[in-house]
Amino acid sequence: MAGIKVFTSVWVSNPKEKTMKFFITGGAGFIGSHLAERLSAEGHAVTVLDDLSTGSLKDMKALAGHPQFKFVEGSILDKDLVRLHTGTCDRVIHLAAAVGVRRILKEPLASLKVNVDGSGIVLNACAEFGRPILLASTSEVYGKNEADSLCEDSDSILGSSSIERWSYATAKKLDEFLGLAYHATRGIPVTITRFFNIVGPRQSSRYGMVLPAFVRSALANEPIRVFGDGRQTRNFTYVDDCIEALMRLLKNPKAAGQLFNVGGLEEISILELAERVKVATHSSSSIVTVPYDQAYPEGGFEDMRRRVPCICKIEALTGWTPTNSLSAIIEKTIRFERSRTCDEPRSYRAPVQAPNILPSLAAQGVNYLRA
Ligand SMILES: NC(=O)c1ccc[n+]([C@@H]2O[C@H](COP(=O)([O-])OP(=O)(O)OC[C@H]3O[C@@H](n4cnc5c(N)ncnc54)[C@H](O)[C@@H]3O)[C@@H](O)[C@H]2O)c1
Repeated sequence: MAGIKVFTSVWVSNPKEKTMKFFITGGAGFIGSHLAERLSAEGHAVTVLDDLSTGSLKDMKALAGHPQFKFVEGSILDKDLVRLHTGTCDRVIHLAAAVGVRRILKEPLASLKVNVDGSGIVLNACAEFGRPILLASTSEVYGKNEADSLCEDSDSILGSSSIERWSYATAKKLDEFLGLAYHATRGIPVTITRFFNIVGPRQSSRYGMVLPAFVRSALANEPIRVFGDGRQTRNFTYVDDCIEALMRLLKNPKAAGQLFNVGGLEEISILELAERVKVATHSSSSIVTVPYDQAYPEGGFEDMRRRVPCICKIEALTGWTPTNSLSAIIEKTIRFERSRTCDEPRSYRAPVQAPNILPSLAAQGVNYLRA
């Protein structure tokens, strides 16, 4: 590759020998906050950039007082801000995105801008400064492909452009192409992960996140609402397993330039999931099916029947397989929802104002910067 500057990954295998500076976009979100905690616990410096549209500073509480942790409120659409923090870190983890079916349907243009333009800005900054990047994609890119086992090179079968639901998968697929093109043409180590329904503590029950929604309804003895006929299936992955997969990929230079599925092994129909949640919570809830046109009256929705991952590739490279069974995932989610003291679930809000929690977090020592 004459004329191409190749940046090699500088991760060392024993994090105690050398620590690094990570820049996590979307790090106040569900997956990002867990990852920030894990990296900080291993002694790395972490800077999070988040506009708090679906993320929450409350989920950063465990990082309060950590001298090497910094939170920056701002958007990945702010090129200067992204350049500033990319230029001063060792590695970038790009998780920021407009997520959740409801947000995508409600704000199609703004969502596309974040998911396409925002990722372009982050990748461009990585190319400028030669920073390795791990980029989050989604199993949604497989669309309506109902294969028994979806491999990374399986086809994407996406629905019509007039159905807005597919804009999220299309944007993420474009991010993948961009990432691979930056790797091929600029030599940037780009690793891409396709997540399959990651679940666990701190996940919002709004915007189509099914397991926390079922658990909350069951604990309140309210009807558990199953969209469609409930025979669509999914494979759930516990967040700790997801973080372990990310850590292994981050530590492996051979992951650069490649895509990896990160998904659980047990396939379950959504109706059966509702039943298992009901039994496990000893709930008196009824289980009701809700036609899609009632669940999403704004239109623009179409479901996929199944989405089963093949995880051979990540397993062969890193030895990773998920360790939490579906029963354990359900149990842990129930335990978390029961212990949740304070609040309403995180939900999308326009990213305009710092939340009230800031003074208390600042007092606890969270390094907070507003862009
Ligand atoms: N959780 C899953 O099951 C799942 C599945 C597939 C893919 N993913 C991907 O993983 C990543 C993390 O998802 P998550 O489940 O933690 O969702 P999340 O909503 O909890 O996290 C996304 C974070 O990005 C932030 N954000 C949104 N727009 C931003 C902007 N313009 N600038 C800065 N920050 C912004 C949000 O405030 C939030 O904190 C996303 O890229 C998502 O597409 C997640």
